[in-house]
Amino acid sequence: MQIVSSPLEMRAACKAYQRAKEQETIGLVPTMGALHEGHLSLVRASRQRCDRTVVSIFVNPLQFGPTEDLARYPRTFEQDCRMLEEEGVDFLFAPSPEEMYSPGSETIVDVPVTGGRLDGASRPGHFRGVATVVAKLFNIVQPDCAFFGEKDAAQVAVLRKMVRDLNFDLNLIVCPTVREASELAMSSRNRYLNEQERVEAKTLSRSLRAVADVVRQGERRLPVIRETLRETLAHSSLLKVDYADLVDPETLAAVEEDKLPAETLVAVAGWIGTTRLIDNCTLRID
Ligand code: PAJ
Repeated sequence: MQIVSSPLEMRAACKAYQRAKEQETIGLVPTMGALHEGHLSLVRASRQRCDRTVVSIFVNPLQFGPTEDLARYPRTFEQDCRMLEEEGVDFLFAPSPEEMYSPGSETIVDVPVTGGRLDGASRPGHFRGVATVVAKLFNIVQPDCAFFGEKDAAQVAVLRKMVRDLNFDLNLIVCPTVREASELAMSSRNRYLNEQERVEAKTLSRSLRAVADVVRQGERRLPVIRETLRETLAHSSLLKVDYADLVDPETLAAVEEDKLPAETLVAVAGWIGTTRLIDNCTLRID
């Protein structure tokens, strides 16, 4: 595995791949490091589908608010390198903030409506930071496929819109959420949790399961389904709910009808102590 920190060098290496052997296909897996099985599932999907895999590790300052955890975000670079090497990754792109945002850079990518909902509502500017850095990564690597996790469903909705609106020529591929045995969705931020907090964090996935169960049993009335969600989330005394809602998976707008549509995203977010966690599931009915 080759490790590159300069955007120019990264672009040149990808260009060389694309020229070689009648155009090798390139898969890109953008991450902020502190890698876990969730990230590795994206790497494996890319390895399966594309000739070459580029993983990026960049803790993007632009997507953190002024009071958020940028400084203490877990950084485990050596271990990440070992894991990626073992997975057979071809390139690790790990730029410094100065290399990524050269002095005087001012252009941003904003998806204001979709990007202002869910996490975008509680973390103003978050998705502007995500869209900007991902657009830059797309331009640097110019991948055929880019891999993202369903775990961050709002991020997927924002990036899908960006790809469409800005005519990026790539396939955005979404991979299922990888969970721990307890059903807690894997996240780099789970490292912040102590034992008791880890137990309470399961409330998020439990609330999604409760909603999926009532729908499976035939419930279609939205007020009842929303109440099930709120009630299950209220079981934890440590969890402070940020949002919990049923939304359209494409626009992230809250579902307004009285009855459940064919496809609905159930999205939850909350703080356990100072750690912000998110989770979601998609309900599909005939
Ligand atoms: P990060 O949180 O490191 O996640 C990188 C990718 O891994 C994202 O696509 C995320 O959805 C996926 N992922 C995280 N946990 C997962 C899980 N349990 N199962 C499956 N996939 C999972 O998301 C970001 O970084 C950043 O916003 C980024 C896109 C890199 C832009 O800075």
